Amino acid sequence: MAIVAIDQGTTSTRALLVADDGGARIVHSEKHRQILGADGRVEHDPEELIAHIQTCLAAAGKAEAIGIDNQGESCLAWDAMTGEAISPVIVWQDARTMAEIEKLKSAGAETETLTRAGLPLDAYFSATKLRWLLDHVPAAGDLLKQRRLRLGTTDAFFLQRLTGTCATDATTASRTSLMNLATGEWDPVLCDLFGVPMETLPPIRPTIGEFGTIGGVPVTASMVDQQAALYGHGCRNTGDAKITFGTGAFALALTGSEILRRPDQGLLPTLAWQFGGERTYAVDGGVYNAGSAVDWLLKLGLVPDMAALNRFEGVPAIARELVFVPALSGLACPHWDRGAAGLWLGMGLETTPADLARSVIEGIALRTAEVVATMAGNITLDARISVDGGLTRNPYFLQFLADVTGRELVTRGFDELTAFGCAAFAGRAVGRDLELPPGATTVVAPGQDSREYCERFADAVARAKSWRRV
Ligand code: G3P
Repeated sequence: MAIVAIDQGTTSTRALLVADDGGARIVHSEKHRQILGADGRVEHDPEELIAHIQTCLAAAGKAEAIGIDNQGESCLAWDAMTGEAISPVIVWQDARTMAEIEKLKSAGAETETLTRAGLPLDAYFSATKLRWLLDHVPAAGDLLKQRRLRLGTTDAFFLQRLTGTCATDATTASRTSLMNLATGEWDPVLCDLFGVPMETLPPIRPTIGEFGTIGGVPVTASMVDQQAALYGHGCRNTGDAKITFGTGAFALALTGSEILRRPDQGLLPTLAWQFGGERTYAVDGGVYNAGSAVDWLLKLGLVPDMAALNRFEGVPAIARELVFVPALSGLACPHWDRGAAGLWLGMGLETTPADLARSVIEGIALRTAEVVATMAGNITLDARISVDGGLTRNPYFLQFLADVTGRELVTRGFDELTAFGCAAFAGRAVGRDLELPPGATTVVAPGQDSREYCERFADAVARAKSWRRV
């Protein structure tokens, strides 16, 4: 029987059906609203997400097992008794808790978060968002008094509503900054530090196992979408790495049973997956703005459409000292600076709209190269990195990325690697070993030596950090 994966991401919800013969196809997909507000707020409507998951499941039909992947750090508050949401989903990109983060930093709390959760203090992770919900959602206090408040990531909310079982998995819990990375359990010191009552959090389970049933079909896997993509890319050995280009760019590289702690390097240790009691770790390096920078560029109207970004004549913009730093939501790995500003440098009267557009594409690649270089400085990375997502269909971007990372980049002919990884986890739980559907694999080799570009870009990044956006 078929395996169904629900990929509930930042911009859409999709259902992948992997049939008995191994054929895999998206049977339904829906986009949801991005609700933007002041102070860098980004929210989703929890009921809209649930409705989309249900439509996706209905389109997929009966299956042997279901897997659900989620957007990671995005979280909300709900009534543990009824499953009714009492807040919107606060999305991972949301920056409303930046002031709280600064306060915690000044109080020296980062030592604890780095030691226990492996994470720096940043509004990206769920902990300060969950505390914000407790402080600002009127119903939260009442429910807490009645011991029926639930604070958690979207996965636990979806599972409670769809299966009646409220649980999160260890990969998702590792993105909250409340889980102790070494024990895989909620950490009392961290819960205290962020002011999140531990009893409001869902229990943590392994990535594959029992998460209840939907219409009689067991949900056998739950995990963060980036971890699903890592598995879907076929990364299994220490040093294997993937980069997914969606709203942001997320690079993950496996470190096996080792928790790689390099806080001074800005690399995040994270959980790749947990099977039974066995945990496999990875390092994570995020770039907040990739697809979102392209969307922003298209909105500016400098180029007519996406196709205009695929090819450019002449030397790269950065070779002409024209640089763009895509810090439109600040800088994540390895800088962890939410207040850094997006920046264009080096314009003259001769600069054309196409030059500016080209510098944006290059800037995303150069930010990604910073992450890859940081990883390569700390672990032995495989010479090839597997890449996927919208921007990898842009030939200019892909070649430029290969040049500035100095690595071979592999793309697969099959696009749905996140959903496929989720299905592979779900299948594994029922003894099935799903194979990536055949597709044309291409390898893009690095061309020219681009070290000079990376140095120039590093100089521009330093300026983006000194010019505050907020
Ligand atoms: O950390 C956020 C990340 O997991 C979101 O990924 O693909 O939903 O934009 P995506």
